[in-house]
Amino acid sequence: MTTWDERYRTGTYPQRPDPHPVLERYLPAVPDGRALDVATGTGRNALPVAAAGHRVDAVDQSREGLRIARENAREAGVEGDIEWIQADLDSFAYPAATYDLVTISFYRPVDRLPDIVESLTDGGYLFVQHHLRTTDDVDGGPSGDRYRFASNELLRAGLGLTVLHYDERTTTTDGTTAATAQLVARKSHGSRQSYPDIGE
Ligand SMILES: C[S@@+](CC[C@H](N)C(=O)[O-])C[C@H]1O[C@@H](n2cnc3c(N)ncnc32)[C@H](O)[C@@H]1O
Repeated sequence: MTTWDERYRTGTYPQRPDPHPVLERYLPAVPDGRALDVATGTGRNALPVAAAGHRVDAVDQSREGLRIARENAREAGVEGDIEWIQADLDSFAYPAATYDLVTISFYRPVDRLPDIVESLTDGGYLFVQHHLRTTDDVDGGPSGDRYRFASNELLRAGLGLTVLHYDERTTTTDGTTAATAQLVARKSHGSRQSYPDIGE
């Protein structure tokens, strides 16, 4: 049993975590198609993305996380729309030009970011949220800086995508304080583009 299996089994990591409001805001703008949730855990992103009409591949190494995720999907009535894949993301064969949306929450796939970008279709969307290195007094996220992004690191990662949203902030949710970055970007090019109308 891995450390993550243990965290999910004992409930020390949320078993029904909410998707980020920024993802929820952009979801209606993403054309229906195929989606990939990288390091899905218990399905934080996979469930709402499936509920929005996408066929989702959800990948994680944790058997226990995927077991809980399946239960959550069954309760949400979206189990038929999600393929759960137990795999090591360090060596995962990301298929090229396949996904209209890729979501990544609280997993830092730095070496594989080029493959993840390759896996997007033309016009495909990428959503990333992850912990930041910070001077704020936070208790959420990895204990050291090694697995956190530096300020603007994600923005400057040279993904070659059009950035539609980027923010860095410290927030307290359910008693846990965390500094996080949120990125929404699209595989689109050109100095004159059409932009999604996401309201206010
Ligand atoms: C902080 S949790 C985030 C889970 C989910 N995205 C969420 O936001 O609730 C990190 C997840 O990454 C998974 N993970 C870590 N390293 C991995 C690897 N090499 N291959 C596959 N999954 C991995 C863990 O099993 C865990 O579910």
